[in-house]
Amino acid sequence: MEELLKELSKRAEEEILKAKSLQEIESLRVKYLGKKGELTQILRGMGSLSPEERPVIGQLANDVREKIENMILERREKIAKEEKERKIKEEYIDITMPGKPYKYGHKHPITLVMDEIKRIFLGLGFSIAEGPEVELAYYNFEALNTPEDHPARDLQDTFYITSDILLRTQTSPVQVRTMEKTKPPIRVISPGRVYRSDDIDATHSPVFHQMEGLVVDEGITMGDLKGVLNVFAKKFFGESTRTKFRPHFFPFTEPSAEMDVSCFACGGKGCRVCGYTGWIEILGAGMVHPNVLRMSGIDPEKYTGFAFGLGIDRIAMLKYGIEDLRLLFENDMRFIEQF
Ligand code: PHE
Repeated sequence: MEELLKELSKRAEEEILKAKSLQEIESLRVKYLGKKGELTQILRGMGSLSPEERPVIGQLANDVREKIENMILERREKIAKEEKERKIKEEYIDITMPGKPYKYGHKHPITLVMDEIKRIFLGLGFSIAEGPEVELAYYNFEALNTPEDHPARDLQDTFYITSDILLRTQTSPVQVRTMEKTKPPIRVISPGRVYRSDDIDATHSPVFHQMEGLVVDEGITMGDLKGVLNVFAKKFFGESTRTKFRPHFFPFTEPSAEMDVSCFACGGKGCRVCGYTGWIEILGAGMVHPNVLRMSGIDPEKYTGFAFGLGIDRIAMLKYGIEDLRLLFENDMRFIEQF
């Protein structure tokens, strides 16, 4: 048995020294020292030894076990160390190399225009109101004096979610939501996304942007509407800008108008930008219809108001000379970076 143990010790020693990976070491440990390992196998024969031999062989077996255990430990440490050094060498990073340049974020032209318009109206004492894009048909239509059978409802091809929930087709529902919860004087603007089931082309998109404006107080007149929108037009398009109000129809304003601004590109002489008319249409507006005031809980005998709705995308296209609306929604960085 002594022979067997010595032979085992020697063999184990050689193999351990040759082992190259932690896995190999582990299988050697199992092979020699494991529950079913070679050392255990040999020790099974202890029963047949004489009482004098037993402690001697027992001691030897323990020494052999200890020796193999120590060798395994040492070898393991060595391999781990080599592994680490190899990794350090292979995965060496030159921290003095120049870094990859980060691209700076950039505001989208729609955001730029919105920010600029907001800045002007905030300066005039307006505050910002918000409303949901998924809206009740009640706010988008009924409360805006546009009942179910009203012809204007056909004009705005609507994405319905259920029969009484829809994607708002305009920012005007925010007028009603604001009047319901605030007492006059009211002075708000409300920028946001609106939706209509239009096919996409150079001038149409199923999603676009509007900015609503609403003023309600005692004694508000069409003169206030014109005054405020004139100031806005001059601040946004330049001091020499002139405005023109043309009669129009909206169910929720009476009287209603559309406002044109003199072309900022040619000053009104006529050019490609204004389609050679000298004028550019930028918004719808009017005096808030008494029915709308009444339905929103405001006494039309006491208060009057005006409202307007600006098409943001159109203004952005005009301002930046963008010829295809789709460019605003594709978010191609090469496009957006230009503004
Ligand atoms: N909501 C109208 C539209 O989308 C614009 C508008 C707003 C007109 C407010 C009058 C008053 O066309």
